[in-house]
Amino acid sequence: MKAEEKPLPEGSLERRLLDALTSGEAVRTRDALEKFRRMMSYYKCAIMEVETKFRVLDEQFSTRHERNPIDTIKSRLKSPESILEKLTRKGFPRTFASVEQNLTDIAGVRVICSFKDDIYMLADCILKQDDVKLITAKDYIKNPKENGYRSLHLIIEIPIFLQDEKRFMKVEVQLRTIAMEFWANLEHKLRYKKNLPPELAAATAKRLLSCAEKSAQLDEEMGQIRTVIEGV
Ligand code: GTP
Ligand code: MG
Repeated sequence: MKAEEKPLPEGSLERRLLDALTSGEAVRTRDALEKFRRMMSYYKCAIMEVETKFRVLDEQFSTRHERNPIDTIKSRLKSPESILEKLTRKGFPRTFASVEQNLTDIAGVRVICSFKDDIYMLADCILKQDDVKLITAKDYIKNPKENGYRSLHLIIEIPIFLQDEKRFMKVEVQLRTIAMEFWANLEHKLRYKKNLPPELAAATAKRLLSCAEKSAQLDEEMGQIRTVIEGV
């Protein structure tokens, strides 16, 4: 018998590792991990598709009208921890089918514009495209949240074309102005500050609401000034 064919000694680290790696549980874990990676890669492709759609519109505007409606595009894939946390919090089954069915924000694309009007112009352009299906729209610009949050949220479904199949993927698109982004980032920090004394938290929330209103006024005025400048 050759040395490498000798069974590993019972209880040895090598034997335990080998047993663990070839057990049914380990194989199931590996398969699930592979399936998860594949699913996340489809969402990544969906992000790439949506980003490209916005970049194309921005490019066309810059050549036609000598201006770029988009300041920045930021994209993110939801982390495995956040996916599990959201499924649990909302009482959904912790399965792949459930993720695809119940979570619409695995893929997120944020489009940041200088001007509010461009948000609606871009949203119209995207939704007119014949491969884009609107699932839901929430206009937190026309109807701001109580805390002052403003943005236009679209959940859209788009096809991605793989080697031998076409899959429909959901993407959350958030469109906002630079000012709305500035505000949301600051408010987000407050939201996660758990050790703030209640009075200070309340006072800060009030100041933030006032900032959101001033900021919206600034967006409005800057937009009007642009219209004047472009009109002459
Ligand atoms: P989630 O369960 O958090 O995804 O909320 P939802 O399903 O009710 O969707 P909604 O469209 O209200 O919010 C989706 C995303 O918008 C959030 O994950 C945040 O990125 C952003 N958002 C919504 N509300 C606020 C807010 O009050 N402050 C900030 N900073 N961001 C917000
Ligand atoms: Mg979310």
